[in-house]
Amino acid sequence: MKRTKTPRNLAELVKAAQAARLGAHAPYSGFKVGAALLTAEGLIVTGCNIENASFGLTMCAERIAIFKAVSEGLHDFVALAVVTNATRLTPPCGPCRQIAWEFCGDIVVHIENLKGRSLDRRVSELLPLPFDGKSF
Ligand code: THU
Repeated sequence: MKRTKTPRNLAELVKAAQAARLGAHAPYSGFKVGAALLTAEGLIVTGCNIENASFGLTMCAERIAIFKAVSEGLHDFVALAVVTNATRLTPPCGPCRQIAWEFCGDIVVHIENLKGRSLDRRVSELLPLPFDGKSF
């Protein structure tokens, strides 16, 4: 885990997601995803997708980054970058939106492809009317 504590900018976060993407284990889909989560104190925690022959066990890059961070005791996040090589940008899947809302709140999700095309959305835009701990 990259845990250097320095001021971070978006370009650095995207670079970390690009690097993390190279570690993806995606022999079934061939689709590599990298994610990088920025904490309020300036740490970057990365993730990549990890597939399994039992396809349903596959874990997305975003959730790996979030779970890694939470498992390390990190709870205050400001941005999540997601990088793929898709021409059309790759927004996080539904389960990742739910997990992001639970652990990250309404942070900025920056979605970028390898050509530098990008899109920014808040988690609340990706997951309107969320189900969460206040819902019951
Ligand atoms: N994937 C992610 O890592 N994040 C997403 O938000 C969408 C999908 C991965 C899961 C699987 O390994 C591959 O992309 C194709 O679905």
